[in-house]
Amino acid sequence: MTPDTFKLLFSRDQIEQRTRELAALISNDYHGRHLVIVGVLKGCFVFMADVIRNLDLDVTVDFVQIASYGAGRESSGECTLVKDLGIDIRGRDVLVVEDIVDTGETLACLIDELQQRSPASVRVCALLDKQCCRRAEVKVDYFGFAVEDVFVVGCGLDYDERYRALPGIYALPPE
Ligand code: PRP
Repeated sequence: MTPDTFKLLFSRDQIEQRTRELAALISNDYHGRHLVIVGVLKGCFVFMADVIRNLDLDVTVDFVQIASYGAGRESSGECTLVKDLGIDIRGRDVLVVEDIVDTGETLACLIDELQQRSPASVRVCALLDKQCCRRAEVKVDYFGFAVEDVFVVGCGLDYDERYRALPGIYALPPE
């Protein structure tokens, strides 16, 4: 069920097409290497499943969870690792997969943490990049779509834990 007030930004077909393009780029860049894919829960799970099934690479998959947003629309600006990796990334090529990069604070916090573990490399793949709204400087190496400063849901993204299962990506009406 999609509320009538939600505006479709990217359809399922558009997301699948763009995901295949990103996966081809990543497969080419990491050709012949074993990649550790680190998903940032919970929002990553739909996009990450789409990406890994389109990669032509040998991958290991793990997850972290970072507390940043509260129940509403605003970022808290704070960051806590509430679920850690179960694997050692020392000397490994790591690709962090996010649903959205907004202020960049979640990603900056995670990358700092991962770098302390001496990986061979860390890159970032995000479905959505809200470039307008950065507060922390982070590099998004692969992104699906740029979005304006609107609150988005669907394809893993929630509002107050709802709408993650919507197949497309929608903008909520302004408050
Ligand atoms: C969202 C999103 C990113 C983060 C981006 O996660 O999945 O991890 O916020 O925001 P930032 O760039 O401003 O730090 P959220 O904390 O909402 O958790 P969720 O993935 O469980 O929905």
